[in-house]
Amino acid sequence: MVNPNNSQTQSLLPHHHDRHRSRPRPVGQIGSRYSTAQRFCGFAAFGTFFLIAFSLVFAPRTSTSRDLRRLHHKIPQSELERALFASINPKSIRAYSKNYTAAPHLGGTNFELAKWTADTFEEFGIKAEIPTYDCYINYPLSAGIELYDKDGQVSYVPSLEEDILDEDPTTGLVDQVPTFHGYSYSGDAKGQFVYANYGRKEDFDLLSSKGLDFSNKIVIVKYGKIFRGLKVKFAQELGAAAVLIYSDPADDGGITLKNGYKAYPDGPARNPSSVQRGSVQFLSIAPGDPTTPGWPSKKGTSRVSPYDRIPSIPSLPISYREVIPILKQLNGHGIKPDQLGSDWKGDIDEFDYSVGPSKVELKLSNLQNYTITPLFNVIGRIEGIRAHETVVIGNHRDAWIAGGAGDPNSGSAVLLELAKAFGEMIKSGWKPLRTIVLASWDGEEYGLLGSTEWAEDHAKFLGDNVVAYINCDVSVSGHHLFVSSSPLLNQLFREAAKKVSHPEGGTVYEKWVEQNGAHIKNLGSGSDYTVFQDHLGIPSLDFGYSFGPGDPVYHYHSIYDSFHWMDTYDDPEWAYHSAIAKVWGLITLGLSEGEIIPFETEEYGRLLKLYVEDLEKKFPVLEAIKQALDINYHEKFGFKHSNQFQMSDIQRTSKPYNNLIQSIGKFIKSAAEFDEYTARLHKEYIKDYPWYKYPKKFRLLVAIKLANTKLFILDRAFLYDKGLDGGRDWFKHVVFAPGRYTGYAGALLPGLLEALEDKDWAAVEKWLKIITDCVDKADSIIS
Ligand SMILES: *[C@@H]1O[C@H](CO)[C@@H](O)[C@H](O)[C@H]1NC(C)=O
Ligand SMILES: *[C@@H]1O[C@H](CO)[C@@H](O)[C@H](O)[C@H]1NC(C)=O
Repeated sequence: MVNPNNSQTQSLLPHHHDRHRSRPRPVGQIGSRYSTAQRFCGFAAFGTFFLIAFSLVFAPRTSTSRDLRRLHHKIPQSELERALFASINPKSIRAYSKNYTAAPHLGGTNFELAKWTADTFEEFGIKAEIPTYDCYINYPLSAGIELYDKDGQVSYVPSLEEDILDEDPTTGLVDQVPTFHGYSYSGDAKGQFVYANYGRKEDFDLLSSKGLDFSNKIVIVKYGKIFRGLKVKFAQELGAAAVLIYSDPADDGGITLKNGYKAYPDGPARNPSSVQRGSVQFLSIAPGDPTTPGWPSKKGTSRVSPYDRIPSIPSLPISYREVIPILKQLNGHGIKPDQLGSDWKGDIDEFDYSVGPSKVELKLSNLQNYTITPLFNVIGRIEGIRAHETVVIGNHRDAWIAGGAGDPNSGSAVLLELAKAFGEMIKSGWKPLRTIVLASWDGEEYGLLGSTEWAEDHAKFLGDNVVAYINCDVSVSGHHLFVSSSPLLNQLFREAAKKVSHPEGGTVYEKWVEQNGAHIKNLGSGSDYTVFQDHLGIPSLDFGYSFGPGDPVYHYHSIYDSFHWMDTYDDPEWAYHSAIAKVWGLITLGLSEGEIIPFETEEYGRLLKLYVEDLEKKFPVLEAIKQALDINYHEKFGFKHSNQFQMSDIQRTSKPYNNLIQSIGKFIKSAAEFDEYTARLHKEYIKDYPWYKYPKKFRLLVAIKLANTKLFILDRAFLYDKGLDGGRDWFKHVVFAPGRYTGYAGALLPGLLEALEDKDWAAVEKWLKIITDCVDKADSIIS
């Protein structure tokens, strides 16, 4: 600011100053000074212009992909894949497996193993934490079975223990986990007993229809076909007093003593003393802590009674060797197996699989310590360039036994191997595009506790940010690849499988085609992907090598699922483990590094169509309903005379059913176009362009961002907030859920399926509308 007092003075001075300043200089002097500067400026300007023009004309064309890579100092994906393959080492997987299987690590126990997992992540340069949840679970105190004779005297007391084997050191550990059922009811039962095949709904229905009364009976069933907790549920619903479940060699794929195989440890057949532990939670109602359905089990949280979700009758598992003296008592009593069905008879000669009831009584006692105790998840995190966008990969750490070399620590060892590989990449300067979270869950065995509570705790963040969840529970328990997946991830899996060599030659993909035509199953339940896919609508995948034809019998949840068994019978070269590590790593990199989220959408549409066609096969009435719009429908199908359903049922469901079919058809078309569009975006993305096309690149990036948003929310379109009927409202996905009568195996379009099974036409109409709305929503996202 000018000082007003000085202004006059200043105004007086200029003349003098000006005069002084403008004192003339010799012309030549001035001229030469200006011309030097001018010349310099001229040259400089020309030079700069020339340089710019030169470099622009000769500037290399680059792709948007390369530009971004430079910007973020990203390492090309192919280089990362090479680095991944180079660092996967069967020897280190073996060492990790050995450590995981050295001591018992039942859910909520062995904090040291969680700590070691976290420390090992940290050692590899991956930040790790151990979030805990206080869960309601049981630990076994004591169990016993007594068989009585006609006079009420104890005639037989099974040991309920598995044999200690000299060859297999884990079987001789002093602190074994007893044979028991997770979430089994603590109590005793005494009464007559019956044999009820696999304990499926249809088995109980069949026996009930033949007049068998289950009330106060102890029901003996075989393992297999469905989730064990549902066997107990069905028995409980019929008034049974207790359930005993044994493993029949008939389900061992022919690798049996009868067929001349020796039993483990001398051969690949089942050791006759082996017992399958496991949870009897009602998995198809809701996983997670049964006292906190839908919210996280934090300290001091409110809890509800668990008995909608866990049994209120006791149960125990038993070996086939020890069930023989009991089931022998049924010989010649009650209905014969051949009157019931071909699978009622098993593979044991000592008893004839008669249903009973027995003349003699059995007593089952089961003392459990129910407690609320912390479970320890381990969460490792590799922060990406786009820190929020997240890919989660996970495996559970807890096992029913000290070993668990198959379930789950074949997956744990592979997860650690992947952490090691990622750690090496981090050291060489890698930062993934999206954040990668590595999860080592606790308490999966009891009922997917660790993953469910964590995901319920972070539901908002996961819903908003997680691109996909890739689960590997048992990475190796045999030599047959199984894959279950959200259809969006199918193609990514196939491509990864094509890049990895199979231990017996060829690629993982080629062998998979040979084994089952590279079939990908839908997701049911039974592992930690459940909360991600079924509750949050996050595309998930689950895979591994499991027991199949010709494989050594897998001693599931038995002490013989040990390091020694894995190292001698199942994967002595640790080559199957290595193959899984590579496939899992490739999928993770595909998801973390792909600028365009690598989902394919058309397969989703085609599978939806297939699922509806499967329902039509299962329920011929749907064909009639579909045709009902036809003016001649009643003549054509003769429904006037059908007593299965009313004409009004056809009328009310016909329109919604045809709407669903049309919506799916529309979605398939939009999805095919959208896949073509994203494929085009990808081509553009890796195409080289001259510099002056930068607006095009900018537009491309915007288009990719938009496409990603659509891909990201697509699977969420299939969530129905109110969830499934029948107390299954925790399950929100309208396409995938565990079967209400199977647990492990998935039910497709579960709401509709169950309504049809129940012949509940109002519910059929309701679910047709709900599913159609979801398909339309998905369609509007991508069209
Ligand atoms: C194995 O795991 C335990 C924790 O159970 C840990 O203390 C130990 O250091 C680990 N051993 C090796 C060789 O890493
Ligand atoms: C039951 O479990 C709790 C927690 O693990 C433990 O503190 C308690 O001693 C156990 N009770 C018995 C009878 O073992």
